[in-house]
Amino acid sequence: MHVNDAKLVISAASEKQYPETDRPEVVLLGRSNVGKSSFINTLINRKGLARTSSQPGKTQTMNFYDIDAKDASFSFVDMPGYGYAKASKKDREKWGKMIETYLQKRGNIVLVLLLVDSRIGPTEDDRLMYEWLDYYGKTPIVVATKADKLSSNARRKAASQIADELGISNTGQIILFSASTRDGKDQAWQTIEQHL
Ligand code: GTP
Ligand code: MG
Repeated sequence: MHVNDAKLVISAASEKQYPETDRPEVVLLGRSNVGKSSFINTLINRKGLARTSSQPGKTQTMNFYDIDAKDASFSFVDMPGYGYAKASKKDREKWGKMIETYLQKRGNIVLVLLLVDSRIGPTEDDRLMYEWLDYYGKTPIVVATKADKLSSNARRKAASQIADELGISNTGQIILFSASTRDGKDQAWQTIEQHL
C-alpha cells in the first residue's frame, strides 16, 4: 500500500465529536502500552503521527487518522488503551464507556484489530474484549505485538498460545508484528485491504 497522505482529523472524547464521514474505519484496540500507536506509525511510515510513549495511558481520546493511499481511503481509529492499572477508577470507567459506545454505534467500522503483547499473551481484559466483540459480530483480527523481543520459535509458540486462549481456530490469522523490525507489516496491510 502506498500511502500518499495521513493526517489526524480529530481527537474525540465523545460521540458528538466523531467525524461525519462514511470512510471505512479500521479500529485499534488493546491494553495500554501494547503498541497501538506504534502500529499505525509503522504502517504509514510516519514516526510521530500517532503519539507514542513509554508512559502507559498516553492515548486518552479516540484519535481519527485519515489515510489516503493510491487505491484506498480509510481511517485508523486509535482507541484509548484499557487495563492501565494506575488510572483512576473513574478514568477507567470513562474510557470503557467511550470504547463501548463507539463500537456499538459506529456504522462504518470495517475491521477491528485487537493488539495483544506477544510476550505476555492475552490478559483477562483482552479475553473479555475478544468475547464481547465476537458476541456483537465484530470478531477482531489479533495482532501480536513486540515480536522482535521473541525468537522465531517463541513467536510460533506465542501465536498458538494466543489462538488457544482466545478460541481462534486459524493460528495463521494472527499477525505477528514488530514496530521495530517492521515484521508483519505486509500481512497487516493485506488484512486491511481485504476489509476495505
Ligand atoms: P497507549 O496509548 O498508552 O494505549 O499505548 P499504545 O498501545 O499506543 O502503545 P505505544 O505505541 O505508545 O507503545 C508503547 C511503548 O512500546 C513505546 O515505548 C513503544 O516504543 C514500544 N513499542 C511499541 N511497539 C513495539 C515493538 O514492536 N517492539 C518494541 N520493542 N517496542 C515497541
Ligand atoms: Mg497510543
